[in-house]
Amino acid sequence: MLIALSVGGSILAKDLSPKNFRAYADVLKELAKEHQLVVVTGGGIAARNYIMTARSLGANEVESDYIGISLTRLNAQLLITALGDKAYPEPPSDYKEAGKALSSGKIVVMGGVIPGQTTDAVTAIVAEYLKADLIVIATSVDGVYSADPKKYPNAVKYGTLTPKELVKIVISTEMKAGSQSPIDPLAAKIIERCNINTIIMDGTDPKNVEDVIKKETTNCEFNKEIHLGTRIKG
Ligand code: UTP
Repeated sequence: MLIALSVGGSILAKDLSPKNFRAYADVLKELAKEHQLVVVTGGGIAARNYIMTARSLGANEVESDYIGISLTRLNAQLLITALGDKAYPEPPSDYKEAGKALSSGKIVVMGGVIPGQTTDAVTAIVAEYLKADLIVIATSVDGVYSADPKKYPNAVKYGTLTPKELVKIVISTEMKAGSQSPIDPLAAKIIERCNINTIIMDGTDPKNVEDVIKKETTNCEFNKEIHLGTRIKG
């Protein structure tokens, strides 16, 4: 199967500890024994800090987005380094390049590509372009909620949503460089358009990401608890 996996910068590069990059690299190497992988890394806290400073210096949103893209690509480079010769050596800078990189048989790791979106949208678009079988958005929240669970403790988590329902929930999200939401509205619209099965889940523990992907792609029985997140199914 071809899997497009988005790894949020806020989990991968939280404190720039090499441990997180190594742990993700180990899981990706394991998954690559069975699947083709395109991994899209986010910018995390560093991207947000750079964007805030850029805005204070007078950068407009597009200029700020370009700065965010640079940070996402830096995180991609770090993950490529952790993967060694299992990874395609450069983060592709667009979707067509990602396709060419994938034909190398290596794990493809990329960051952002153009202003006006986040790496969730990159993941959805690259998945649609390359006809992926599954999209996984590994982020810092454990699924899609009826409201921001940090602000509203009574918010409910959805187990399953249709792509249409997902769009309705996230479409009101603020679309500014560095803004926070479980998934960006453009990504939700692309998921609705391409109708590829998608999982939005907590990616803090890469082993759990591995288990969820294994559960989704095989009939594996697990005798431990797996945190499934929210499944988007057409
Ligand atoms: P992220 O994808 O990391 O944003 O891109 P995010 O989802 O807010 O953060 P995490 O990583 O999941 O915590 C960081 C910023 O880079 C720019 C946007 O400004 C985005 O907010 N970006 C990224 C683009 O403009 N285009 C892209 O294709 C990707």
